[in-house]
Amino acid sequence: MSIAYTEKGAGFPFTLLHAFPLSASMWEPNASALASKGFRVIMPDLRGFGRNEVSDKISTIDEMARDTVELLDKLNIERTILGGLSMGGYVSFRVLELIPERIRGLVLCDTNHVADTAEKRQARFDLIEKIDQKGSRALVEEMLPNLISDHTSANNQALVERLEREFLACPPASAQAALRGMAARPDRTELLKKINVPTLLVFGEADKVTNLETAGEMQELIGGSRLKVIPNAGHYSNLENPEAFNDVLCEFLENFEAS
Ligand code: MLT
Repeated sequence: MSIAYTEKGAGFPFTLLHAFPLSASMWEPNASALASKGFRVIMPDLRGFGRNEVSDKISTIDEMARDTVELLDKLNIERTILGGLSMGGYVSFRVLELIPERIRGLVLCDTNHVADTAEKRQARFDLIEKIDQKGSRALVEEMLPNLISDHTSANNQALVERLEREFLACPPASAQAALRGMAARPDRTELLKKINVPTLLVFGEADKVTNLETAGEMQELIGGSRLKVIPNAGHYSNLENPEAFNDVLCEFLENFEAS
């Protein structure tokens, strides 16, 4: 499926995949910093999100990954660094599986390599029901407080309001379709053991959804990977502390030899 995307800068491609239930616009505070380092930043709206058509039934992680590969093909991108936050990380794992020879580096942010537990899956189905009753407001009420850090809640009302607006703008059917897709995703432990490209892990210090314990496990599984913890940030580390996030990304990219 052809998907919408935003592009910034010129140079070696860096593809960034967004979190649930957001869109490519979540990378606004980061794209200029990457472009100024000489990268061509490609930011797709994943299936059902942002400027794409509403998705219903189920949007699998596999479909989102295939859409991303189709976009890279359309843009004639032979090789790219690939980054993803949370759901964007789940999609990155599948893209890596589909086109390993085209991925030159990975930036995995606030994400998780394990499949959902039965409890987590049930929580997704409960949320799907609440979306039936309340629409996308259920996302704001049920998810948002758990996603951002206390520091963000107390000090960054503009970001809280922006996230509320974006959650409300997400079509209810698309949110439900992606929740079903995430519930069905497989475990990626074996894939992580095989990763042999430079990999940066970035996690908010107060991420309650994909926490530092998970981050440590991922670091152990991915040979040579580096883990950077973003202060004063929860699950949306790139939005909650963009300065620190951009610094760790730029430091990683300085040592990166494009090929
Ligand atoms: C996200 O931020 O993409 C979601 O919290 C991921 C998830 O629900 O597993």
